[in-house]
Amino acid sequence: MTLSLETPSLEVSGLAFAYPDGHQALFGVDLTVRRGERVALLGPNGAGKTTLVLHLNGILGGGDGSGVGSVRVAGLPVTKPNLAEVRRRVGIVFQDPDDQLFMPTVREDVAFGPAAAGLRGAALEERVHAALERVGMADFADRPPHHLSFGQRRRVAVATVLAMEPEILVLDEPSSNLDPASRRELADILRSLDVTVLMVTHDLPYALELCERSVILSGGVIAADGPTGELLCDEDTMRAHRLELPFGFDPRSVVMGR
Ligand SMILES: Nc1ncnc2c1ncn2[C@@H]1O[C@H](COP(=O)(O)OP(=O)(O)OP(=O)(O)O)[C@@H](O)[C@H]1O
Ligand SMILES: [Mg+2]
Repeated sequence: MTLSLETPSLEVSGLAFAYPDGHQALFGVDLTVRRGERVALLGPNGAGKTTLVLHLNGILGGGDGSGVGSVRVAGLPVTKPNLAEVRRRVGIVFQDPDDQLFMPTVREDVAFGPAAAGLRGAALEERVHAALERVGMADFADRPPHHLSFGQRRRVAVATVLAMEPEILVLDEPSSNLDPASRRELADILRSLDVTVLMVTHDLPYALELCERSVILSGGVIAADGPTGELLCDEDTMRAHRLELPFGFDPRSVVMGR
């Protein structure tokens, strides 16, 4: 398939989903993310954000055609026969790095995905080193992940995903549990990447700093979609979806950098 620059990184269309216990979490989600965009996915607890994220690489929905609606990654439908390629294209950084790191050393964790995709020898080593450099963790390659701090493990989790050179990087709560310096350093890393980003966050200043565009998922539907600065200043929308700015934070005072 030829990919034009106009093919969006992500196209979610009419996506509805109920968990096996009958609880319906998504009621028809439409979301398009263009190549190179950084989009924040906002919304209250229980809105369906993680449920949506888990559909992007077929962990939920399974791509067996039983669900309602569709997801495409760089034009490729998320269906069972495409799952291996979809999982190469969609890099998900889970909220808890311990869900992502399971090898004896940092190096092996970062090498795991590219090796499974067939990379070997010097090319694999180079890929691993470049990903760890990107997140400032190259000196930790031989350490066991479980000896690292939470913030260090979060960076390694980002490296495991970057090593796959994904089409779209999806992060579920990337700034949670990071100290202020680590939070800022991760923002610098994300800004330096030339990749499409979808970032789930309750950290509204982080969304404003990093993402020109935000969407609000609320009650399993997209309730708002627009420039982050405008959304955060829209008091009615914010209140309607239980979004609150930190005390004293004025979104008008922030100048967004690219
Ligand atoms: N395994 C499950 N079985 C049944 N219902 C579930 C399951 N996981 C989540 N849900 C329900 O689906 C809804 C959406 O959950 P989800 O985890 O996607 O919300 P979220 O927007 O990520 O929330 P948070 O901000 O708290 O992370 C919630 O009502 C939740 O209770
Ligand atoms: Mg969640």
